Amino acid sequence: MNKKNVEDILARREILLLLLILIGFTSCVPDNNLGSDTIDINTLDPNNGTNSNSTSMVELGRQLFWDPVLSGGMDVACVSCHHPDFAYADGRALPIGVGGQGLGPQRIDAVNDNIGLVGRNSPTILNTAFNGLDENGNFNPVTAPMFWDNRAQSLESQAIQPLLSFEEMRGHAFDETVAIDSIVARLEAIPEYVLNFNNVFGNNSSINSDNIGTAIAAFERTILATDSPFDRFQAGDNSALTNAQIRGMNTFQRVGCEDCHSGSMFSDFELHTIGVPDSPLLNETDSGANGNYEFRTPTLRNLPQTGPYFHNGVAGSLEETIRFYITARNFANNNGNGGPENLKINPNVNRNQLDNDIRNLGPINNNNVQDIIQFLHALNDTNFDKIIPTSVPSGLNPGGNIN
Ligand code: HEC
Ligand code: HEC
Repeated sequence: MNKKNVEDILARREILLLLLILIGFTSCVPDNNLGSDTIDINTLDPNNGTNSNSTSMVELGRQLFWDPVLSGGMDVACVSCHHPDFAYADGRALPIGVGGQGLGPQRIDAVNDNIGLVGRNSPTILNTAFNGLDENGNFNPVTAPMFWDNRAQSLESQAIQPLLSFEEMRGHAFDETVAIDSIVARLEAIPEYVLNFNNVFGNNSSINSDNIGTAIAAFERTILATDSPFDRFQAGDNSALTNAQIRGMNTFQRVGCEDCHSGSMFSDFELHTIGVPDSPLLNETDSGANGNYEFRTPTLRNLPQTGPYFHNGVAGSLEETIRFYITARNFANNNGNGGPENLKINPNVNRNQLDNDIRNLGPINNNNVQDIIQFLHALNDTNFDKIIPTSVPSGLNPGGNIN
């Protein structure tokens, strides 16, 4: 064996050793560390190319958001179900829209109008600017998914839907086909709206459904809560999370919660079948998207203020919500009958229908449940825009019949 060969072998040995060390090293480091690898949401622009950040447009949006003149009976505003006191949700399992009186859990169906509960839980408006955010920090406001079943795209087009909805805002006042025209006619008769719309949109016939949607969406993009302990931890403040919260964060990642609750919004914004049972308050089953009991992964930000949980509010607490995953995982793996936990798997959903990411969840024990709850609290930021206008241009009660 000559010297050249020996050198060659030695060199190759070194390269091999280096490779082995590298492989060993990378396999010890989790491929995605929640604390350090998630995009810092505060580095993102909530307007992301929508150019909707002029103050006058935002303020017009705020007026519309609070003004019950947009509802058929002039009794319901967006804020009746998305109120700052409830972190822009309503604190109820299922909302009461038309004919309701009061706010939050206290709200009652005060009018005998054959209009009962709305069939789904009110999601928060907080951070909806970021709906559709992916793990790399990309999101497109034009195609941003909206609703529990992703059936609408963009805040702009979503904003018109409640005006058309019979239970939420329209009621018996007018037919769906003339709802928008009727609302536009009302706004045109209010000088302050004529002035504000013309100021913002710059011409004389600017009150129309597109501009109503644009102004409301511009306001919604300012309703942000992104300074949670988790966000501060991520920005480098190592003392922002408690030990239990750090344990919870690691457990959340290890058992596979983040397979669906991914990225800085803690949602992949995709549809999944996880088997949440129907609400006992409703007469009909809600089969979600594609008739397959698919619902969108919700954000996990601000949960302590936005319960009850799931698309129909069947889970009253975070503990109940997380324990449901133990039931679902066991059921998906043919271990257990979808009970006897509080929340049983929806009897219309069979084992094979359940999402693979539910089947593949790691085991979750009681300590894990408590740690995850602590971690979810670390995603909470209570310091958001809570302005309650003292008046709206219609002269009606801001927020509708919420007092
Ligand atoms: C009666 C209660 C009620 C009223 C009034 C109401 N909403 Fe909602 N909102 C809901 C419910 C319930 C959902 C979820 C519905 C679904 O997924 O099918 C929702 C969903 C949304 C979403 C989607 C959030 C997401 O992450 O997918 C936005 C945005 C929104 N509403 C804004 C508004 C605006 C703007 C108005 C006023 C024009 C309004 N809402 C009026 C109850 C209400
Ligand atoms: C297969 C994807 C998937 C996995 C894995 C998953 N989730 Fe979810 N999560 C969802 C979907 C979808 C919903 C909404 C279901 C519904 O309302 O019917 C949801 C709802 C929730 C909610 C309720 C939020 C609200 O606003 O109502 C919480 C809390 C939650 N998940 C926490 C967790 C935790 C903790 C884990 C890990 C133990 C986890 N999730 C694993 C998809 C998933």
